[in-house]
Amino acid sequence: MELKIGLVGCGTVGQGLLEILDRKRDYLKDAYGFEPRIVAITDKLKGSILVPEGLDIRKLLALLAGGKRVDEYFREGATAEIMDPLDMIEKCEADVIAELTYTDIKTGEPATSYIKKALRTGKHVVTSNKGPAALHYGELSKLAKQNNLHFRIEGTVMSGTPVFSLCESGLAGNEIREVKGILNGTTNFVLSKMELEGMEYAEALALAQKLGYAEADPTADVEGYDAVAKIVILSNVLLGGELTPADVKREGITALNRGLIVTAKEQGFRYKLIAQTRKSGAKIEASVSPQKLPLSDPLAGVMGAQNALTFDTDLMGKITIQGAGAGKIETGYSILSDILAIHRRLSAKF
Ligand code: HSE
Repeated sequence: MELKIGLVGCGTVGQGLLEILDRKRDYLKDAYGFEPRIVAITDKLKGSILVPEGLDIRKLLALLAGGKRVDEYFREGATAEIMDPLDMIEKCEADVIAELTYTDIKTGEPATSYIKKALRTGKHVVTSNKGPAALHYGELSKLAKQNNLHFRIEGTVMSGTPVFSLCESGLAGNEIREVKGILNGTTNFVLSKMELEGMEYAEALALAQKLGYAEADPTADVEGYDAVAKIVILSNVLLGGELTPADVKREGITALNRGLIVTAKEQGFRYKLIAQTRKSGAKIEASVSPQKLPLSDPLAGVMGAQNALTFDTDLMGKITIQGAGAGKIETGYSILSDILAIHRRLSAKF
């Protein structure tokens, strides 16, 4: 079955998705009967195109790799034509809008307005944007339900490593009582480099920025705001909470130094920036803080930019997953996995 897709934002994540769609086109068709048609793209820097018949993904990727813009797909050397994303979302004939613009954890905008527009004009939405998911998940999922649409957010936590789909399918029937883990790759990378290679904090952070793990403003990573957004999302989606970032106790890693890290290690412990949320009765308490974990804890063994989560469930006890938390292909995959989930459900109706 064909699915028409519109991309709002065509940066790293959008291009990661397009690369996978190009690379796995035959497999996705043979294995799942999935035939994506990209009918619209709008990007603040790279221009906009509406292609109702579906664009040639390989041709577009070649343009972008050559430093050209999206709107040169039709006219090489064209001056940038940036369609208002709200107009494009309304006008395009997409079944699904992939909202892939930048994250603003303070306001959730402009992404939240784009998502609302899509849901109000009959389009399913998938996003890896933490802003709308952390600040407006309840409202947006309600709007989706009212319109009989899907709103999926796999890529907001641990990129394409399955978190929400795991809980929705693999752990269905369990009550999740606590979720605890390492949700920020930058800080885990910095702590690992300080311990294993004796790097200074600033040097390790600069390397994390160079490798593309850190947020545009790395304060969001090192002061714990990024992990706060993610634990809010987990609290609200998996534990049924209504938390906002202000409800989460927060401490970053800036007070840690190499001396503390080395001493902890000699005593059989390792510092990790731990995000945690727990439900007791109707109350949900969430925090982000550096914790000294015994080396026997599965989370203590997670090094580098990797993320990990331990779910405490009523039927299955504790289950820990570890995997990528960021990356072009990894986050692009999160969008594909959500689109495939929608495709499965729509196909089942036929
Ligand atoms: N800056 C984030 C991290 C990127 O380091 O984990 C993924 O959300």
